[in-house]
Amino acid sequence: MTSEERTKKNYERRPYPRTEINLLVEKDTSLPASRWMQAIGRPGRAAPKRVLVAGCATGVEAFILRRRWPTAEIVAVDFSPRSIAVARKLQRTVVTGKPITFRVADLTDENLVRSVGGDYDLITCHGVLSYIPEPVRVLKNLAPALRADGALYLGVNGEAHPATRLRSWLAGFGFAVDELRDERRLRELLGLWDALNDDGSGELATMSASYLGGDVCGAHFNNWPLARWRTEANAAGWEIAGTDILPLALHLTIERKDYRPLYPAGAGELAARLDHARPAGFHRIMLRRASAGGMDLVFAAAPEQRLRWTGLYGVTIGAAAGRRTVKAVVRCPMFHVRVEWTLTPAQAGALRAWVAAGIAGEGELAPWRRTQAGREMLWVWAGLGAVAVEPAAGARGRE
Ligand SMILES: C[S@@+](CC[C@H](N)C(=O)[O-])C[C@H]1O[C@@H](n2cnc3c(N)ncnc32)[C@H](O)[C@@H]1O
Repeated sequence: MTSEERTKKNYERRPYPRTEINLLVEKDTSLPASRWMQAIGRPGRAAPKRVLVAGCATGVEAFILRRRWPTAEIVAVDFSPRSIAVARKLQRTVVTGKPITFRVADLTDENLVRSVGGDYDLITCHGVLSYIPEPVRVLKNLAPALRADGALYLGVNGEAHPATRLRSWLAGFGFAVDELRDERRLRELLGLWDALNDDGSGELATMSASYLGGDVCGAHFNNWPLARWRTEANAAGWEIAGTDILPLALHLTIERKDYRPLYPAGAGELAARLDHARPAGFHRIMLRRASAGGMDLVFAAAPEQRLRWTGLYGVTIGAAAGRRTVKAVVRCPMFHVRVEWTLTPAQAGALRAWVAAGIAGEGELAPWRRTQAGREMLWVWAGLGAVAVEPAAGARGRE
């Protein structure tokens, strides 16, 4: 049996998740905010009309997206017929709203687009590619299903995913980790693990069997650094538009004013560098088609870009009493970010204009002037995800 067949068998045995679907849908904590997905992946675009959920299991992800976008057409697929049957039943009995189309489909199938259709504005694939050997095949198969201005959201395991160490630790006790078998013994070992890793990452010993069957015990795991996910994505013709690492890690360097060696870099390169130094357990990545305009242009060819303030961050700009310096304080509760900058008058003026435009709900603004200071600010802001950038028509090449 191949590891793909074993993965399928595992999910057929224990569809993910079975219980507390309503609670999970209401809590809505597993996916990044739709505002972030839109701002980074589809800057300036209206809410998606067509959404594909790739690897939907029993439907939680699709039901969450239904609540967020009540009128969108949502198609959700999984290769486990039993999971799809549970999702359909939940839709009939528990979950309300415009019906979602649930379908059995294998993401590794080269003819995927024939069975799922095309013209999607957004594809979401959360917690799936980490369990598929050669995920590049899936990334290639999904590409033709997306509109040119669409985006793919990926939620994938990172190098620091707890399962990386946990699986080899369990194996050291003679425990076979490729399938969930001896639950009592497993839970005993997980209890020990929890006691030794009292770091707030959660109580594994009390997690449901469907969670442990997928996220701890399973036939195949890709717990990769972002650099590796980037290589896979690039090989399938995708570019990283942004990741959750950028706001979370970058602000640490910015606060210390040590960020200069990180630039210049595109969003993907920057995120990979940060992840290398401070490995994440899970990555939330927005991808766009490389042919859609090359997101790396964002950071290299500022004058050809058109910037759009996304409103993801709250900004206060003010001069300290009796001083000539102007400070900007940027806050984003969503990412627990608070950053303070001292600004030159030119930077303060441009930032005020961005903020004003953001508040007005519109605003394409002239980019920063091409000074070193202006470029640094641009990179920092873009890295933080505060600014989404659309390459102007015909903008190509690097400086
Ligand atoms: C951990 S669950 C994640 C489910 C859902 N995305 C969520 O976040 O709630 C992984 C799902 O991916 C599905 N899956 C794995 N390989 C697949 C493939 N090749 N094609 C389609 N679905 C696949 C499994 O059947 C399982 O339901």
